Amino acid sequence: MNEIEVRELVRAKYAQSALEMAKGASCCDDSCCDANGCGDGYAADELASLGLDAAVSLGCGNPMLLADLRPGEVVLDLGSGAGLDVLLSARRVAPGGHAYGVDMTDEMLAVARANQAKSGLGNATFLKGAIESVPLPDASVDVVISNCVINLAADKGAVLREAFRVLRPDGRFAVADMIALDELAPEAKQRLDLWAGCVAGTISLDAYTKELQAAGFDAIDIEVTREVRLEDVEGLIASAYIRARRPSRVEIAAK
Ligand SMILES: C[S@@+](CC[C@H](N)C(=O)[O-])C[C@H]1O[C@@H](n2cnc3c(N)ncnc32)[C@H](O)[C@@H]1O
Repeated sequence: MNEIEVRELVRAKYAQSALEMAKGASCCDDSCCDANGCGDGYAADELASLGLDAAVSLGCGNPMLLADLRPGEVVLDLGSGAGLDVLLSARRVAPGGHAYGVDMTDEMLAVARANQAKSGLGNATFLKGAIESVPLPDASVDVVISNCVINLAADKGAVLREAFRVLRPDGRFAVADMIALDELAPEAKQRLDLWAGCVAGTISLDAYTKELQAAGFDAIDIEVTREVRLEDVEGLIASAYIRARRPSRVEIAAK
């Protein structure tokens, strides 16, 4: 499978998930969520205050717990899905801040925009685009978040370089993602359902660290939050919180 085939496979799977969500199905019915924890990690009252519930999450953690967002900041969510993390961010960066979500799947963007209407929040924008080529200018964002998406990309280096490009110097990368704790069998890595289900595209903690370093990030920290053993696949994967930082101009000049 090449990168374009992977992206199309993933897009088709999440278009289907979005159509099911729009009909009221819970993400817990979705195989991706089975592995990921099904939206646990969000406070019910915070979700209720947006008019949403955790069923709109297809994520594997809660990036709000590591992003430390402040009023006035600009946030970008890579692969924003139904929009939960964008809307939670928008609330935290008000007044004066803005939250952007980028997603390639039209059906997901429609669900996200409907959820934004329910929330009544005006300082959020959902953009159509690939996370390998983000439709935002250089150095325009204070914090990049993402929730269970980067594992789905065939070219993780391209995604991390884009995250670095759009971040301002000293900007933060605060991401929940799935990683591989064991090397998965080659047959499993080839299975399309396992790629779209956030399993086959996982890389090790070491490989993730190297990709972040190669993109230019420092202060890299990866914390495993939940180990996941799958029924029909040998080897462990895990959800993880991944933090990093784009160095400041002073630090770059000093090098
Ligand atoms: C597992 S869901 C996670 C959604 C959301 N972050 C959440 O926590 O609920 C993956 C989302 O990322 C989007 N996505 C996957 N690969 C992408 C890519 N290469 N470019 C843009 N969006 C992508 C999919 O359309 C889908 O909405």
